[in-house]
Amino acid sequence: MCDEKVNRCECINKTFAQLKEFADFESAQAKTGCGLECEGCVPYVKLMFATGETAFDIDDPRLAAYQ
Ligand code: FES
Repeated sequence: MCDEKVNRCECINKTFAQLKEFADFESAQAKTGCGLECEGCVPYVKLMFATGETAFDIDDPRLAAYQ
């Protein structure tokens, strides 16, 4: 069991805390390119904007709403 938290877009190497500076997912993506490469972080970034949290369990059940 991996207890490491998901806290960044690995592809552009920006933390969710850094991406939180933008107004919303769309502007964060437009300005940084987050979520465009592997797209693996997209549900996490959306959940970050919805909740304000910046680190998540890899299998956070709330992610289902943001797939
Ligand atoms: S981790 Fe964000 S696009 Fe790959």
